[in-house]
Amino acid sequence: MSKRITKAIFPVAGLGTRFLPATKAIPKEIMTLVDRPLIQYAIDEARAAGIRDFIFVTARGKSALEDYFDSAPELEASLRRAGKEELLEILKSTNMDSGAIAYIRQHKPLGLGHAVWCARRLIGNEPFAVILPDDVIAAEKPCLQQMVEAYAETGGSMVAAMEVPKEQTSAYGILDVKEDMGSLVKVSGMVEKPAAGTAPSSLAVIGRYILSPKIMQNLGKINRGAAGELQLTDAIAAEMEQGRDVFGYRFRGQRFDCGSKAGFLQATVAFGLARPELREEFSQYLTELVSMRNAAQ
Ligand code: UTP
Repeated sequence: MSKRITKAIFPVAGLGTRFLPATKAIPKEIMTLVDRPLIQYAIDEARAAGIRDFIFVTARGKSALEDYFDSAPELEASLRRAGKEELLEILKSTNMDSGAIAYIRQHKPLGLGHAVWCARRLIGNEPFAVILPDDVIAAEKPCLQQMVEAYAETGGSMVAAMEVPKEQTSAYGILDVKEDMGSLVKVSGMVEKPAAGTAPSSLAVIGRYILSPKIMQNLGKINRGAAGELQLTDAIAAEMEQGRDVFGYRFRGQRFDCGSKAGFLQATVAFGLARPELREEFSQYLTELVSMRNAAQ
């Protein structure tokens, strides 16, 4: 039987240049969909999947993330005095158990693979999850929970996968599929951002992973050799070369690329419309906006 997954790495050390100038002062992961920062969606998803140890790989300029998960005694006291129980409950949902979060610094932005590798001492010899908070996934059953359940049957390593239009494959890591079993595929290779027309499939890797601890050793080896960014994809590809299984998991849900402006705006609309207290007013506004635009054309 495969081991339980209790540790997750949240790589949040990227520069977030696509959101400059905002990200000069605010970490991308603190930007909000409606009223919750991206990182809160990621934490909630991890909790639902049974994660108990949350490892943040951060960098300079990301202290707002640490503050976000800290207690806020003055704010709590003032809400309590004012009898604002509902708001107190909302604040409580951001509380983390003492010792549940660890922060590791990535001193240079050397890529996602390097960020994951920075957490190797906290991972030890256990399989672990990786969640990229800028991939937000709306799903009835949270995506990582779906994967943890599938992983209990397969073991190995697993990446979240999603069909993308052929013309977009060069923007993703793409899976080379050995065996298609429906929601699960067995993978024979992975290519990071293949040149147009060369992608082995249209199944793209999305920011959720369950990884064997051996990945850390692979990253260490690539680390010593490679210049520039260190790709997580390369370390996962090495798993297959070493004869270990890697699976793609076609999750059920809708993924938003909140690392891009268009994706972030789409997520804002979708999550806004999903809120019962906002739905009516917001959808009325959107309907009016569309008819005004149509009339103007
Ligand atoms: P991105 O490719 O989205 O890069 O990283 P970025 O720096 O966050 O954003 P842009 O492209 O400059 O706008 C994907 C994930 O990997 C993390 C990011 O924080 C994000 O969660 N990452 C990336 C690191 O932790 N360290 C790195 O060196 C690079």
